[in-house]
Amino acid sequence: MFDLTGKIALVTGAASGIGEAIAKTLAEAGAFVYVADLDETNGERVVSEIGADKSQFLKLNVAEKEECQKTAEMVLGEKGKLDILVNNAGIGHVGTLLQTNEEDLDRLYAVNVRGIFSLTKAFLPSMVERNYGVIINTASIGGILAVRDRLAYCTTKFAVVGFTKSIALDHALQGIRCNAICPGRVETPFVKARLAEYPDPKKAYEEMASTQAIGRMGKPEEIAAAVLYLSSDEAAFVTGTALEIEGGWAAGK
Ligand SMILES: NC(=O)c1ccc[n+]([C@@H]2O[C@H](COP(=O)([O-])OP(=O)(O)OC[C@H]3O[C@@H](n4cnc5c(N)ncnc54)[C@H](O)[C@@H]3O)[C@@H](O)[C@H]2O)c1
Repeated sequence: MFDLTGKIALVTGAASGIGEAIAKTLAEAGAFVYVADLDETNGERVVSEIGADKSQFLKLNVAEKEECQKTAEMVLGEKGKLDILVNNAGIGHVGTLLQTNEEDLDRLYAVNVRGIFSLTKAFLPSMVERNYGVIINTASIGGILAVRDRLAYCTTKFAVVGFTKSIALDHALQGIRCNAICPGRVETPFVKARLAEYPDPKKAYEEMASTQAIGRMGKPEEIAAAVLYLSSDEAAFVTGTALEIEGGWAAGK
């Protein structure tokens, strides 16, 4: 089960945290993985840890439409197909509406929403042509429920869930499956950056850990395991979902 031998995958934001774990997990299951990220140093590190025979770094800013288009041309020219697209790159911001300005919203929207839009748009025609494609978008529990002090972030992550369901519905009869994953708090450099924005980071860490019913943050590998399932043909009947992987966060208050 969950064998990805012969599959070609691309993971954005794969130089760190959740994306790094996803890239490693998909490669371990047999896929060739493009490690796409802005961060060249860590991207190359991830490739060297996976093995250059099973992965390749691609420098990509998902907020740049032309870069997304060129990436698709390059991958399709090199491998002839893309089976699995994981739109994982994302950025965050702490603040209510009163602490969020238009520039903050635009910055998050450009990466978290328009980045997914542009890269998916670049690859989708080739997937439709082959009648096969798996698209997985990293949303967040903040794409299902509001999270205090995360106005811009939640706004963009709710949009990721809407985008995911629209793609799933529009292309279900063309061999495309599109799902979102909605992690709770996961210990990554992303969360460390948010913690540093609080006056008392230690207290903020404890509060963040306690939002999960099971009382701790998640590990990147626990998110990657869900992506492996959704990527595999065992999930052939799963599309349009927003899968919560959040330690019981949304189970109740
Ligand atoms: N860590 C969490 O608690 C958590 C929870 C829910 C959802 N998420 C989501 O998971 C995803 C990954 O988060 P993480 O915690 O692993 O973050 P991270 O900061 O550890 O890694 C994000 C990676 O994305 C890359 N990136 C940022 N902007 C980019 C761009 N424009 N183009 C290409 N690459 C870009 C960064 O260079 C970095 O390598 C994000 O979408 C985030 O919103 C994270």
